[in-house]
Amino acid sequence: MIEAQNITKRYGDLTAIERVTFTAAKGEVLAFLGPNGAGKTTTMRILTCFMPATEGTARVAEFDCFEQPAEVKRRIGYLPETPPVYQELTVTEYLTFVGRIKGLGAADLRRGLDRVVEQLSLGDVRHRLIANLSRGYRQRVGLAQALLHDPPVLILDEPTVGLDPKQIIEIRELIKSLAGSHTVILSTHILPEATAVCQRVVIINGGRIVAEDTPERLSARLRQSEKISVTVKQPPADLTARLQALPGILNVFETADSGALLLECALGQDRRDDIARYIVSNGWGLIELKTVSLTLEDVFLHLIQHEEGLAGTSPSQGPPSIQEPRNA
Ligand SMILES: Nc1ncnc2c1ncn2[C@@H]1O[C@H](COP(=O)(O)OP(=O)(O)O)[C@@H](O)[C@H]1O
Ligand SMILES: [Mg+2]
Repeated sequence: MIEAQNITKRYGDLTAIERVTFTAAKGEVLAFLGPNGAGKTTTMRILTCFMPATEGTARVAEFDCFEQPAEVKRRIGYLPETPPVYQELTVTEYLTFVGRIKGLGAADLRRGLDRVVEQLSLGDVRHRLIANLSRGYRQRVGLAQALLHDPPVLILDEPTVGLDPKQIIEIRELIKSLAGSHTVILSTHILPEATAVCQRVVIINGGRIVAEDTPERLSARLRQSEKISVTVKQPPADLTARLQALPGILNVFETADSGALLLECALGQDRRDDIARYIVSNGWGLIELKTVSLTLEDVFLHLIQHEEGLAGTSPSQGPPSIQEPRNA
């Protein structure tokens, strides 16, 4: 349904995204996960024909975003980062205005309005000025305009930013209810958001896709294992392999920075005792041993280091890659 092939976007000297390639199948909900400045909005603007790519091609429902923008736009509902809602209009006035721009006839417009007002629980506020709505309601109005012409594809740029927890749950439920009948790409910089609503997660950082996986496998890699950092004074050459062979150790990674090793154990298994005893009894000198938890930032950092490692710029083998787990 959506196909991005090697899309690159440059703003003058700055390369915002580079050779971004991914697909989204019909009915799939895909998360674009990355920190601020990663290139999420840029990618979405290209897919929605808001601007052309510098290089590469993007297609939606077989139509080229650059060659056939009218066909593409007809099939896409787009919630931009800042919803384009006009303060001085009421909700109904605004949605009517949007419907006309989208070329809906009177009957389709009425049907569409009723549907989105229901879908987004906007009934109580439909005659209120947008200026007087809370952030949560404004975001719902933004979603309503994206859904108004009942497009098969939805592109939602950070749809839950600035919402309170209850509103976040509501929006996530709505997105889940669209899955199957709609193809959805949503961007987020929050890992749990990506894993809560999406069938597949594409991780983007520094304008490049660094990993792609299912939420289950992401969680398994990132959360469902205990991580222990170990620093040894005089490690034998094969320390990684030796630790790997200990019972309960799933993986051992060398970290690029401090020379510490990162050990993964199954969730709920605290192997620190065994590891400490093993190292001390062999006389290698245990300098530090601690449990660590990977934050999203760590994950990005690791993925990037891993990529550099693969390119041969780093002597380290690189810490955990989500895409290519070692020994898995
Ligand atoms: N109109 C623009 N002109 C110049 N640089 C831009 C423009 N829009 C975005 N950028 C830059 O492109 C990079 C990617 O931005 P963006 O796609 O907005 O990231 P994200 O949505 O993931 O936060 C950033 O470095 C940003 O500063
Ligand atoms: Mg953005």
